[in-house]
Amino acid sequence: MSDCTQLPAWKALKAHKKQLASTTMRALFKADPKRFERFSLNAAGLLLDYSKNIITPDSLTLLTDLAREAKLKRAIKAMFSGEKINFTEQRAVLHTALRNRSDQPVYVDGVDVMPEIHSVLARMGKFTRAVRNGKWRGHTGKRITDIVNIGIGGSDLGPVMASLALSPYWQKGLNAHFVSNVDPSQISDTLSRIDPETSLFIIASKSFGTPETLLNAKIARNWLVKALKSESAVAQHFVAVSTNTEKVRAFGIDTANMFEFWDWVGGRYSVWSAVGLSVALMIGMDNFEAMLAGAHAMDEHFQSAPLAKNMPVIMALLGIWYNDFWDAHTQAILPYDQYLARFPAYLQQLDMESNGKRVTHVGKPVRCNTGAVVWGEPGTNGQHAFYQLIHQGTRMVPADFLAAAVPQHPIAQQHAVLLSNCFAQSKALMQGKTRSEARAELVQAGLKGSELEALLPHKIFPGNRPTNTLLYRKLDPHTLGTLIALYEHKVFVQGVIWDINSFDQWGVELGKQLAGGIETALLDPQPTSAHDASTNGLINACKNWEDSQ
Ligand code: F6P
Repeated sequence: MSDCTQLPAWKALKAHKKQLASTTMRALFKADPKRFERFSLNAAGLLLDYSKNIITPDSLTLLTDLAREAKLKRAIKAMFSGEKINFTEQRAVLHTALRNRSDQPVYVDGVDVMPEIHSVLARMGKFTRAVRNGKWRGHTGKRITDIVNIGIGGSDLGPVMASLALSPYWQKGLNAHFVSNVDPSQISDTLSRIDPETSLFIIASKSFGTPETLLNAKIARNWLVKALKSESAVAQHFVAVSTNTEKVRAFGIDTANMFEFWDWVGGRYSVWSAVGLSVALMIGMDNFEAMLAGAHAMDEHFQSAPLAKNMPVIMALLGIWYNDFWDAHTQAILPYDQYLARFPAYLQQLDMESNGKRVTHVGKPVRCNTGAVVWGEPGTNGQHAFYQLIHQGTRMVPADFLAAAVPQHPIAQQHAVLLSNCFAQSKALMQGKTRSEARAELVQAGLKGSELEALLPHKIFPGNRPTNTLLYRKLDPHTLGTLIALYEHKVFVQGVIWDINSFDQWGVELGKQLAGGIETALLDPQPTSAHDASTNGLINACKNWEDSQ
């Protein structure tokens, strides 16, 4: 399979979209009182309500036909069984093995990787317990109070997102900090807030070659050695998480303090590995393992549920439905859960670095839209900022709402207010407000004549704007694991249908290559003419400003 647009189901979906062009969800809900039962499903503790989408039972049949024609089941099997589906890097894709809670072996090149995984998890358990109970102490004998994760991309976003999401489970007296940006402001601010005697740095980098991470790590190391007046202090205050033992050693971290993972774990899929060490330190290993168990529950659902009842498959197909057939090219993620504030940013990397691709498996240009632009912010904040565009703008913006039934902080009625806003938004987006409804409201408010007619068009909501709602009991470690795995598999399914490689990221390379030459020009006191006119102009403007300081 190479060009999904040539599949019979793709062509049928094109025709079907034309038939549905003037159908409204409002009418579909009116015609079918059982629409929620028909278009919702439960899996691994999550409830997905996808009834507020522009679909009929026929749409679902055609969409699942598309998945079948793209040989999705075979692709799922290939991933879970360790085939080298990351074909441009000749790597297996086995983040699912990291959370394999069964006693089934998982093979890479004929070797069962489960014993290694269990051994690293056991080391993480031992280490986190020692730090949390105060057995592991800093160089001067004080207890660790601050964990600083230095990493970027997948070595940062998973730890940041999951730590924040699970902050109600943090151990009292421990704080977490995350440094990712090469902008020296972030490391400077962080160091100014912590005490070298009680800080533990985790240098997380799959490659251990990422300049941002190494530069920040060096600053932290020098700061610590200077403050504690001892090179040997590094051993109690620095640990590394990487696949690259040599580079960890070369950096000056004792490899006894290194937690290993493997090249078959993609950076953006690595929070389940030792990259999650900062999370495990903050919430404890039992809770970290509960997160792995949640993800495993979703893995089992994904592998076994029929396509039409498979949550990641349904979400992926709906994404393709809008992205490729309705010209709706973005995906909003709107958690009504403040603890998921970084979930949209996490999903940006997961989805956009995975599916932001333009050639198929055989290197030919794709003939459809691939990865959507993912963005979002928590509600209700977003309601007072950008929802206007989703309600009345000219674009269709498919949105996922996420909410917990049970709050972490049951204070008065506040959770009911939060949930009522969440459900009201998806209802408003679905039904809109017709001209006659808007008119009736204005009449009710006492308007008439030209005043009423002038205001009327501004008061109409087109509605028919699609949303999914993901509901869960409470945002605990198990639920978070389930949610992350759900989106990972959604991204995978879309990649299979578009026939792209969701597991490489060559698109990040060019900028990295060019940055070297630009850095040289910036450090050179002379004006540059080595680049294009714009780049020269920007570099030289910086130099002028520096000179005038
Ligand atoms: O530049 C992109 C990227 O390679 C991501 O895919 C990755 O998550 C990030 O950089 C960090 O890489 P590393 O963990 O090797 O430092």
